[in-house]
Amino acid sequence: MNEEVLSTRIDGDIAELIVNRPDNLNALNIDVLSSIILTFDKLKKEYSIKAVVITGAGEKAFVAGADIPLLQQLGKRAAADYIELGQRAMRAIETAPFPVLAAVNGYALGGGLELALACDIILASQSAKFGAPEVNLGIIPGFGGTQRLIHRCGIGAARRLVLTGDIIDAAEAKSIGLADVVAAEGSLQETAWKMAQTIASKGPIAVREAKGLLRRSQEQILLSGLQQEVEAFLRTFETVDREEGMLAFMQKRKAKFTGR
Ligand code: COA
Repeated sequence: MNEEVLSTRIDGDIAELIVNRPDNLNALNIDVLSSIILTFDKLKKEYSIKAVVITGAGEKAFVAGADIPLLQQLGKRAAADYIELGQRAMRAIETAPFPVLAAVNGYALGGGLELALACDIILASQSAKFGAPEVNLGIIPGFGGTQRLIHRCGIGAARRLVLTGDIIDAAEAKSIGLADVVAAEGSLQETAWKMAQTIASKGPIAVREAKGLLRRSQEQILLSGLQQEVEAFLRTFETVDREEGMLAFMQKRKAKFTGR
């Protein structure tokens, strides 16, 4: 496991994974995404894990999205590989044989929102912020966000978040069914851990069957939507607007889009 960018702590039958790039607000680079895949594979094969909690290092962010400077440098082929890797990482979480809890301790934007959406249960701190700001960069979500948002919150909330790029707070996230729980001030990790312990105390076969059943209820629609999302993402990736959007982010200014 890559201890640098994804630290893992195992306590009995519960694992905690911490995305650990606080200087970049835990943005998802290739190392983090690969480590998620490797770690879930390992947790499945080598440990009798009953629940996992994922959170972000530092005070400010859960995960602030895909790694924008990395994405900016990629050609179309490499961007397709990156998106495919991200989609595989999200599926590794979604299809894990144990429940995965997102403990959202700050910004969950773009790929960070998508990471939370791949988890079974989303817990938020009072200061958590959620959003799909990809349109500010001239792109769209590519790690399943458009599809999993619909499944979790309904088409209305999905449209509002994906089309505006608005960032919403924990209370609003709870009101639209995005966050399941908003933890009392300072108690996010404890609340998430207690929920993981509750799940771990139940019949593990029943929990695994229930997770699989809930997931599979809409799987065919989800998988077809995920494929369409990748294709649409790559169409946006080839545009002048995408270049301008990412350059503007790097230069800390607002993008000027021209529709090309
Ligand atoms: N990828 C890579 N680095 C990122 C990042 C990302 N998605 N988001 C933030 N960072 C980096 C910033 O570049 C900055 O680095 P620097 O100190 O070297 O300049 C550092 O993290 C802190 O971010 P900063 O923007 O200075 O903090 P802020 O408090 O002013 O704003 C956010 C916080 C989350 C609102 C802002 O960072 C942001 O909008 N991030 C991008 C979110 C996004 O569009 N995600 C979708 C990507 S597809």
